[in-house]
Amino acid sequence: MRTPLIAGNWKMNGSLALVDAFAQALVTTRLPARVEVALMVPFPYLGAAARAFRDAPVAVGAQTLSDQPAGAFTGEVSGAMLADLGARYVLVGHSERRSLFGEDDAGVLARVQAALANGLTPVLCLGETLEGREAGRTEAVVLGQLAAVFDALGPDERARLVLAYEPVWAIGTGRTATPEQAQAVHAAIRARLADYAPALAEALKILYGGSMKAANAGELLAQPDIDGGLVGGASLQVDDFLAICQSAG
Ligand code: PGA
Repeated sequence: MRTPLIAGNWKMNGSLALVDAFAQALVTTRLPARVEVALMVPFPYLGAAARAFRDAPVAVGAQTLSDQPAGAFTGEVSGAMLADLGARYVLVGHSERRSLFGEDDAGVLARVQAALANGLTPVLCLGETLEGREAGRTEAVVLGQLAAVFDALGPDERARLVLAYEPVWAIGTGRTATPEQAQAVHAAIRARLADYAPALAEALKILYGGSMKAANAGELLAQPDIDGGLVGGASLQVDDFLAICQSAG
């Protein structure tokens, strides 16, 4: 049985005050026992968040990492640094990284490998654009992004990932995939995982992301192949985010 994971993605938002607000709410809020929770915060807040959530059942993660281990790469942050600060997860290949910062499939693979080399759990993001969907290419795009990483990994490495299906047209738009649309893509991803190994398909979590909020989380999370959420905008409101966590329990 896969334990649901609700992961917040603050993107380039938030503050030390928001870290504190979450920490305070977590003192009095009882999260469901059978739900894992993580917050992917901007780099500067990682250390503070790891300290603030030390006694809470909330893991901390980053939103990207360098594909290089160390050296003259001004402005970059390595996987070792993230681990040093207490990060457990790192998003890789988020659509904003792919479209705004030129991360291609090879770069995404290199970052997944850098994360694994440092004991981090990569949350590999997959998703089609509106044009891709309207051209009937949803599965081709998503399964292509999956293959670009999974074909290059060994069986033990594949087992250490979390996947997130995030249709680009649903991110930050208020336009959520219907539970049926999301479930269909999640099922296709899981079927492809079974081609690598049936046990991998059973075990890997596939999160849904794209305008998930308290009002729609329940019906999305009720789908058999949706194992949690990657939550952007709604993760900036403590109450909204914790309500989504409750609906996963
Ligand atoms: P959203 O973002 O929930 O604001 O749509 C999701 C994401 O980009 O991870």
